[in-house]
Amino acid sequence: MNILFIGDICGKCGRETLFEYLEDIKYEYNIDLTVANGENSAGGLGITVNTYEEMTRAGVDFFTLGNHAFSKANDAKILLDRKEALVRPANMLPEDLPGEGMEIIRCPQGCKVAIINIMGRVYMDPADDPFKCVDNLIEKAKKSTDIILVDFHAEATSEKEAMGFYLDGRVSAVLGTHTHIQTADEKILPKGTAYITDVGMTGAVNSVLGMDVDTAVGRFVTPEEKHKFKSAEGKGRFCAVVINVDEKTGKALEVKRIWKS
Ligand SMILES: [Fe+2]
Ligand SMILES: [Fe+2]
Repeated sequence: MNILFIGDICGKCGRETLFEYLEDIKYEYNIDLTVANGENSAGGLGITVNTYEEMTRAGVDFFTLGNHAFSKANDAKILLDRKEALVRPANMLPEDLPGEGMEIIRCPQGCKVAIINIMGRVYMDPADDPFKCVDNLIEKAKKSTDIILVDFHAEATSEKEAMGFYLDGRVSAVLGTHTHIQTADEKILPKGTAYITDVGMTGAVNSVLGMDVDTAVGRFVTPEEKHKFKSAEGKGRFCAVVINVDEKTGKALEVKRIWKS
């Protein structure tokens, strides 16, 4: 089966870019399941009921989140409490946050896929140990399916590569998100797990990680002015990967990087 995973969708520009590219990409790569990181879909920070519904209309089947999962806290709670098609990082603190960090879904053609969302700890907000956390989730998932996707939302390339090798052979893919800059290191690890350090973002080409350039530069140059973040507009870039997975074994056969603008 072919799984499309789209990197952090940033603001209105990111959502519009989805509508621009997604349908054609799904056709071109014969996609069976589309998963996207939606943590920045609402004005660059968080997800709302409206942005969730819009991205679903664009053709996304399921969402992962990240450190901005609760930036629009009420909406995130509504979506997670309703058990809509989304997960938030499993090891996020405090432990009693709404929602789950893993969901097992059934694809249209019948096979089950486990989608796991975890978060790193290097240069990130405090979180539980992602390595121990993911071990527990994989043990649960394996009772239902060998097709397992992990969105590892983390900053440090070292922590992400370590997670890739730690999970090699146990999951179908370890896909890095959060830095918004696509890395060119997609590969199949020795025991059959697809890996990329960062899928990249879907958002404005001329932006600083999806945010308005003047605002983002101003925060460094004149920090005393307390610039408020706003999403960048203009031409969009679509960043994703396609993973071809052997449905019988859950091993990845191929991973392709997509970078369109
Ligand atoms: Fe992000
Ligand atoms: Fe993030």
